[in-house]
Amino acid sequence: MALKQIGVLTSGGDCPGLNACVRAVVRSAGAAGVGVLGIRYGYRGIVDNDILPLDDRSVSGIIQLGGTKLRTSRFLELRQPEVVQSTAAALDRLGVDGLIVIGGDGSQRAAVALSEHSRTPIVFVPKTIDNDVGGTDYAIGFDSAVNTAVEAIDKIRDTALSHERVFAVEVMGRGRGILASAVALASGAEVVCIPEVPLEVEAIASALLRCSKKGKCSSIIVVAEGCPGGANKLAEDLRQKVPFDVRVSVLGYMQRGGPPTAFDRILASELGAQAFDVLSGGISCPVMVGRIRGEPVTHDLREALHIEPHSFKELRDLCHRLSGVWAGT
Ligand code: F6P
Repeated sequence: MALKQIGVLTSGGDCPGLNACVRAVVRSAGAAGVGVLGIRYGYRGIVDNDILPLDDRSVSGIIQLGGTKLRTSRFLELRQPEVVQSTAAALDRLGVDGLIVIGGDGSQRAAVALSEHSRTPIVFVPKTIDNDVGGTDYAIGFDSAVNTAVEAIDKIRDTALSHERVFAVEVMGRGRGILASAVALASGAEVVCIPEVPLEVEAIASALLRCSKKGKCSSIIVVAEGCPGGANKLAEDLRQKVPFDVRVSVLGYMQRGGPPTAFDRILASELGAQAFDVLSGGISCPVMVGRIRGEPVTHDLREALHIEPHSFKELRDLCHRLSGVWAGT
């Protein structure tokens, strides 16, 4: 069936690159003569019928903007089966021939649940600064968050060096250390703590003492927020074991904002266009689009739920080899 009109929404935590992806969906659809309804506030907008019709003009000048023009929400009510059913019914009443969901792992699970009760075909585009969605090497937003954190740490280094202090810098990433590992490698951190490796304060203290014996009088420890107690707990424990002035800087939500990097603008444009192409080609199950080793891939979204996210083991090993220690080694 030829598409006449589709819906697009952004769901879950925001990140840089969402607007670039919406723009790509709208422009690809426009070129094919297909209309687009923007659904505001993620899945919640389906239930509330909160619709913003989008055309080529309405997405001009947004590729460089962080956040999301469509707004977003974590519609946690979708974990309840009855809300899934009512949302699926509302989706089928919207008058769209397909839905493109730009979201993270929670939105991915919700898309699968909805597709079990709705006749509207769904294509899922991965975005998250945590880069913890299986089936793609990179999700939209990750590269921008890495760059934001690295830029912040470059600045923290100046003050760390001037005062000869140790800084425990906490980065986001939820339960995974992929963001922290990439940030640590790119910022030349002396130590990185990630949830995947047990945290051993003793080992970190010895590493810092070794650094100091070699004449290094300031250090950066990148701590993933998923480590128990985060940077604050680590700093507290370290102060008992090392004679240095240990300070904490939690980067927090700044990692989710700001203009997307060129990498994210390109990835978002590619995945948005690919999602439209997949939808217009016709699908018989919910589909996820992604990139593996730079190549476009599609998965049955139900199977993608069970694919482990990229472990970035080589990146983690290289980080260890070049500059620092992993907590626990
Ligand atoms: O998933 C993205 C993320 O920024 C995580 O890194 C962080 O743990 C979480 O969202 C914060 O969520 P919220 O926006 O609900 O506070």
